[in-house]
Amino acid sequence: MKEFKRIGVLTSGGDAPGMNAAVRAVVRTALSHGVEVVGIYRGYSGLIDSDVKPLVLRDVSNIINKGGTILYSDRCPKFKTPEGMAEAVTTCRDIGIDGIVCVGGDGTFRGATDLTAHGVPCIGIPATIDNDISSTDNTIGFDTAMNTIIDLVDKLRDTCESHARCNVVEVMGRGAGDIALHTGIASGATATVIPELPFDEESVINSMIEARKIGKRNFIVIVSEGVGGEFGPAFAKKIENRTGIETKFARLAHVVRGGNPSLKDRVLASTMGAVAVEELLKGKSNLVMCEKKGKIVSVDINYALILDRMYKGKLKDGDLDAFTEDEIASMKAEIREKQASMARLYGISKTINL
Ligand code: ADP
Ligand code: F6P
Repeated sequence: MKEFKRIGVLTSGGDAPGMNAAVRAVVRTALSHGVEVVGIYRGYSGLIDSDVKPLVLRDVSNIINKGGTILYSDRCPKFKTPEGMAEAVTTCRDIGIDGIVCVGGDGTFRGATDLTAHGVPCIGIPATIDNDISSTDNTIGFDTAMNTIIDLVDKLRDTCESHARCNVVEVMGRGAGDIALHTGIASGATATVIPELPFDEESVINSMIEARKIGKRNFIVIVSEGVGGEFGPAFAKKIENRTGIETKFARLAHVVRGGNPSLKDRVLASTMGAVAVEELLKGKSNLVMCEKKGKIVSVDINYALILDRMYKGKLKDGDLDAFTEDEIASMKAEIREKQASMARLYGISKTINL
């Protein structure tokens, strides 16, 4: 089995609260096994530019509670080119990096699988507020971002109640409605609009008119950015015109990507960081850490990436060729389960939230 002397850790793509807790766990777990760690700064950009620094025990002190990422992050198009990959591999050879833990989203995992194929074993840790990695029930940062959102929406609700207004609130999530769906339920939103399920504007407007007649003063509508940036402001105007209820629009944007990670994200990040290193040192690679029904499990990155494509309806010709019938059946079952759980939550939110 490969003898590990030194591993690298990087954070890449959109930052997420809890990335630091993952980095800390990676460093301390590796050191406990007598393996050195180098921090790679600015994601794959730092690997190409050799922007690296050894990390010792105390370098990761006082970061478990901090948002952002001490290693910084970047989107690095050059890494997708053969030249960028060659420079990254050269850095690993020059510095003696025997494996890398890559913390980020699906783009980061595509990079990790490419690097593994070029002889640098990688393991991915899913960190993105969007929760759009289908192979894991939760990504690092999702819980914190949602807690920040409900805190902000609670404040909007206060002022809506005082002034008998409506507030349409757009939340991040890229193409995924997970953040909107959960925060819609948790903030008692009148309506939630997500890309995954149809939305009946007329029925919401009519319900608002009826609810106002019987004394409801505040209305919150949560809109996922995945339905398109024009939808929220336009729907706010429509509500005002049709119901006569004064309606404001708020786009929470990046504010929900910062801040101290929640307890749940700290535990998830710490556990995934520790298990990722244990797996790497056992000689495993091309895996992504996933939380499934409360347990941390390792999933093949290619399986995770293709599962995502299947879920998003973006499968390309030949994508399934490398998988067995059982694996394809298990992908389809996972997707059905996720869709059913979203539909169920959506149904509950419609029943209990006006
Ligand atoms: P996230 O990891 O949050 O999905 P990105 O999609 O921006 O964020 O991906 C992060 C980085 O991963 C990119 O900037 C790029 O360096 C690398 N990456 C993304 N897609 C690929 C790909 N298809 N092949 C190789 N590397 C990729
Ligand atoms: O993936 C995290 C995320 O914050 C998405 O919710 C959002 O669509 C995107 O990143 C914003 O990207 P950027 O930080 O490049 O503006």
